[in-house]
Amino acid sequence: MQSSIKHVAIIMDGNGRWATQRRRPRLWGHVRGASIVSDIVEASDNLGVKALTLYAFSTENWSRPLDEVTGLVKILNKFLIKERQRLIKNKVAFKVIGDTSHLNSEIKKLIQDLEHETKNFEGLKLSFAFSYGARKEIVDSINSWIVKHPNQLMTEQDFANGLYRPETGEVDLLIRTGGDFRISNFLLWQIAYAELFFTQTKWPEFSVAEYTKIINSVANRERRFGAIHSMPSLDESQQLAKQHINQI
Ligand code: IPE
Ligand code: IPE
Ligand code: MG
Repeated sequence: MQSSIKHVAIIMDGNGRWATQRRRPRLWGHVRGASIVSDIVEASDNLGVKALTLYAFSTENWSRPLDEVTGLVKILNKFLIKERQRLIKNKVAFKVIGDTSHLNSEIKKLIQDLEHETKNFEGLKLSFAFSYGARKEIVDSINSWIVKHPNQLMTEQDFANGLYRPETGEVDLLIRTGGDFRISNFLLWQIAYAELFFTQTKWPEFSVAEYTKIINSVANRERRFGAIHSMPSLDESQQLAKQHINQI
């Protein structure tokens, strides 16, 4: 199936409240939440999605109680071990985006190995945003530019090239589960023209059926990128804008 939705980003929110409503510890919600990730990854491929960026842990989430933080790191560790074969089999190109410097050496190695092993795969580009903050990503891009090009101004393209995974490009659709209507420091640059979809469903109850429904409903929205009729992409809208500027 061909869809205009190529890059999907998901804020996987609501695990804690889902567990609390069931009188279970918050961590149980995270475990259940992690267990549905692979279904959504596999469904993405079938829905024609080329890149999927999942928000698993923000730079701000480090401020949570220590047992929750430790538990979340352990869940990532387990996920990397458990899902490795399946990701490789499905030719998923896996990458963690974020500041992983605080993680222990075992998990760093698991991440590095999986990234290395899958980096040339041509299937879904799966990014796990872990210890991720968009403001940090922005500042990191600017700083790496300044170091390499002192006294030279950067273009939008230079800036985008310095992001953590530039090849995934613009986000077409951002989904947030859990019922809140906010971005919480996720992909601030990449969502400039994304379609936004907020669902009340808490992440552990999110399903392939709901995901498919969202993608189909959004694929029918008219994306104008500033023009007055449907435009195929932001890129084409910007090129047309340039031509017009040169003609007036
Ligand atoms: C999202 O679920 C997962 C992380 C932020 C790690 P939450 O843990 O934020 O769940 P709620 O929002 O408290 O329900
Ligand atoms: C955003 O959820 C981060 C992740 C889902 C990983 P939060 O639960 O941390 O966001 P806030 O605190 O509601 O803004
Ligand atoms: Mg939350």
